[in-house]
Amino acid sequence: MLFIIQLLLAQVVLGWSPTNGYAPGPIASPGNDTNLLRNSHGLSKREAEWVTERNKVTDQNLIDFLKLANMTDFDPEDFVNNKANRSIKIGVAFSGGGYRAMLSGAGQLSALDSRVHGANENGLGGLLQASTYLCGLSGGNWLVGTIAMNNFTSVDEILRYNKIWDLEHSIINYGGINLAKTFSYYKDIDDTLDAKRDAGYDVSFTDVWARALSHQFFANLLDYGAGLTWSTLQEMDPFTQHQMPFPIVVSDGRTPGTLVVDSNSTVFEFNAFEMGSWDPSLHQFTQVKYLGTNTTGGKPNNGTYIGGMDNAGFVMGTSSSLFNQFLLQINTTSLPLYITDVVTSILQKVSKEENDIAVYEPNPFHDTLIGTVKSIERNETLFLADGGEDGQNVPFYPLIQPERQVDVIFAYDNSADTEFSWPNGTSAIATFHRQFGPQSNGTIFPYVPDARSFRNLNLTARPTFFGCDAKNLSSLLHLNSSDHMSVYDSPLVVYTANRPFSFWSNTSTFKLKYENDEKIGMIRNGFEAASRLNRTLDSEWAACVGCAIIRREQERHGIDQSDQCKQCFLKYCWDGSLDSTDEPGVNFTETGTTNGQEGKHSGASRLSGWLETAGYAAIMVVVFAMW
Ligand SMILES: *[C@@H]1O[C@H](CO)[C@@H](O)[C@H](O)[C@H]1NC(C)=O
Ligand SMILES: *[C@@H]1O[C@H](CO)[C@@H](O)[C@H](O)[C@H]1NC(C)=O
Ligand SMILES: *[C@@H]1O[C@H](CO)[C@@H](O)[C@H](O)[C@H]1NC(C)=O
Ligand SMILES: *[C@@H]1O[C@H](CO)[C@@H](O)[C@H](O)[C@H]1NC(C)=O
Ligand SMILES: *[C@@H]1O[C@H](CO)[C@@H](O)[C@H](O)[C@H]1NC(C)=O
Ligand SMILES: *[C@@H]1O[C@H](CO)[C@@H](O)[C@H](O)[C@H]1NC(C)=O
Ligand SMILES: *[C@@H]1O[C@H](CO)[C@@H](O)[C@H](O)[C@H]1NC(C)=O
Ligand SMILES: *[C@@H]1O[C@H](CO)[C@@H](O)[C@H](O)[C@H]1NC(C)=O
Ligand SMILES: *[C@@H]1O[C@H](CO)[C@@H](O)[C@H](O)[C@H]1NC(C)=O
Ligand SMILES: *[C@@H]1O[C@H](CO)[C@@H](O)[C@H](O)[C@H]1NC(C)=O
Ligand SMILES: *[C@@H]1O[C@H](CO)[C@@H](O)[C@H](O)[C@H]1NC(C)=O
Ligand SMILES: *[C@@H]1O[C@H](CO)[C@@H](O)[C@H](O)[C@H]1NC(C)=O
Repeated sequence: MLFIIQLLLAQVVLGWSPTNGYAPGPIASPGNDTNLLRNSHGLSKREAEWVTERNKVTDQNLIDFLKLANMTDFDPEDFVNNKANRSIKIGVAFSGGGYRAMLSGAGQLSALDSRVHGANENGLGGLLQASTYLCGLSGGNWLVGTIAMNNFTSVDEILRYNKIWDLEHSIINYGGINLAKTFSYYKDIDDTLDAKRDAGYDVSFTDVWARALSHQFFANLLDYGAGLTWSTLQEMDPFTQHQMPFPIVVSDGRTPGTLVVDSNSTVFEFNAFEMGSWDPSLHQFTQVKYLGTNTTGGKPNNGTYIGGMDNAGFVMGTSSSLFNQFLLQINTTSLPLYITDVVTSILQKVSKEENDIAVYEPNPFHDTLIGTVKSIERNETLFLADGGEDGQNVPFYPLIQPERQVDVIFAYDNSADTEFSWPNGTSAIATFHRQFGPQSNGTIFPYVPDARSFRNLNLTARPTFFGCDAKNLSSLLHLNSSDHMSVYDSPLVVYTANRPFSFWSNTSTFKLKYENDEKIGMIRNGFEAASRLNRTLDSEWAACVGCAIIRREQERHGIDQSDQCKQCFLKYCWDGSLDSTDEPGVNFTETGTTNGQEGKHSGASRLSGWLETAGYAAIMVVVFAMW
């Protein structure tokens, strides 16, 4: 009997942390290649090999998608199989914005997923299956991480089993009236933190947050995924068989000694193989599996390699560390003493300073000399913060790196920018501007207008294409771009903003609980936003998406667009015009809700995104100080 249980366990934990639990521990060396670091010139060998295999799958799936899209005067098979053409690479990106972003994003993702009921008939089913990259940031990284790390499950499956994303009780009041459940929840968090600390590692607030998140995202896994690592992906069937897109989540580096995160900060990505940055300030990657290893210049100090530091919940908590402070909301005065005690115990164990920062100690980039910002490389600790703190709330970053050769980005923006928590294009504007700064490094992001024009021209009311004509982007080919780079290697962007169709989806970023019907409503509304209200607002929507996907490859070969595609581009491309007049209020008539009023939701905050965030953080710091 015991033997059978052990066998089962051995199976479950394939690729998990070497301790099978939250604590990191020694693992075998990665082989002869003892230097864990590499310069960010080009893709890693493993990513390049993986993408080559994935191309075979996406080529076929893209043919299927384009056939379903009913494009006129276009033969998908001919186009994709033409040997002169290279494989088209699609990237999908989900913004931050707490559970609002996770749930709206879940609906948008569903519309792209051929496995989801109704997606092929009403949405853009199959586009996910034809995609190469899947990126998330903060709330969007909860979505991407949940889907990817649960063996590439689907939103339909999650809703069917109703165990993952159980949001009826907030993350701080996990059991609701079931106090025993709340107690065991905190007890479990406390125990896993002890395990990591006893193994000799610093525990920070992000560890608490990581374990709390894992109860919501890995509810069906052994010990709520305490031993599930980000690098476990490398062993998962859908990943090894190239049946899923390559997942990436984004965080921001904080220069040691400062509290500021701005457009000059180093942006980090965690992908299935590596963690690091393309930015000149760091310009290197480490192998994510060996993150806990104490290294100098990428080589282990005493020959020992450590695994398990890349706990999946911890990586997801890093990208969303702004929300660490949710946990400080717990009001223990109404809870029984046995729960108060364990909560107090947890809070005593973590550093109270910098509670929105994830601490990576040892710093994998310690004592290297590649990047231009030596303060990161000199410090023994690496500090990472929420990916949205630099204003780039949509994770375009991994997808605009020229090395990845992405043709088209489907960007889902669920930010809370306006007074009533709708997006206004600010995230895309931030990415546009970053290409002119010292961290540009040859990236090209197409022209976008100012936030007022986004609103006045209805660019958040319906999907909008940016960068439709690559030749108009020549002036963005920067001085520091490499010689072989061409504008045709920069992606076209299909931007879709959160918008109300069947549900007021502008809930507050800090809404902690969703009743089941609210959750379903958010997801359904996201589906409708991505599908142009199930294609009822435009029966040719899928064909127009097809036109966007094939555009760069057509441009590279000087192929003319079909009349249908020309019409689509007239309809969906931003034409370069501006309207910066100050006309408050967003008109929602195009959405099917036709009440023409500014959207309001009972839970919606009146503060705009950043104000709300900053104000909230300030309040929480005070609450913490009073603890
Ligand atoms: C590692 O190095 C040894 C000796 O140099 C060599 O025989 C072996 O094939 C190498 N292994 C790999 C996986 O490269
Ligand atoms: C494509 O055409 C077929 C047959 O006319 C129709 O059933 C299907 O719904 C159409 N699909 C799209 C995406 O318009
Ligand atoms: C749109 O399609 C989705 C998926 O099939 C469905 O859940 C939703 O109810 C549909 N919305 C409308 C307005 O029909
Ligand atoms: C993961 O999904 C694949 C299908 O892609 C399936 O074959 C496999 O059994 C699943 N593994 C687990 C552990 O559920
Ligand atoms: C490392 O960063 C911490 C926190 O910002 C700072 O206090 C410390 O001085 C830094 N150490 C070095 C060697 O720069
Ligand atoms: C970023 O760095 C550049 C050049 O060093 C500087 O001109 C610019 O003001 C900086 N931007 C911010 C937001 O600090
Ligand atoms: C190397 O350091 C690790 C902790 O970082 C420790 O567990 C291990 O015992 C050390 N090994 C040697 C050979 O000193
Ligand atoms: C905590 O809960 C108690 C009892 O429910 C209540 O009186 C008190 O105002 C709450 N404190 C805060 C800070 O919410
Ligand atoms: C890493 O190793 C160095 C030198 O061996 C040591 O000084 C440092 O404390 C170690 N860092 C951690 C986090 O263990
Ligand atoms: C757009 O959103 C930003 C916050 O993300 C806000 O500062 C700005 O005022 C907004 N502008 C408009 C025109 O809504
Ligand atoms: C990016 O930055 C690195 C490091 O500064 C540099 O070596 C490389 O040439 C840059 N790449 C481009 C395309 O500018
Ligand atoms: C934006 O949409 C509203 C409502 O449909 C419409 O009245 C207005 O003319 C549109 N503006 C532009 C520039 O298309």
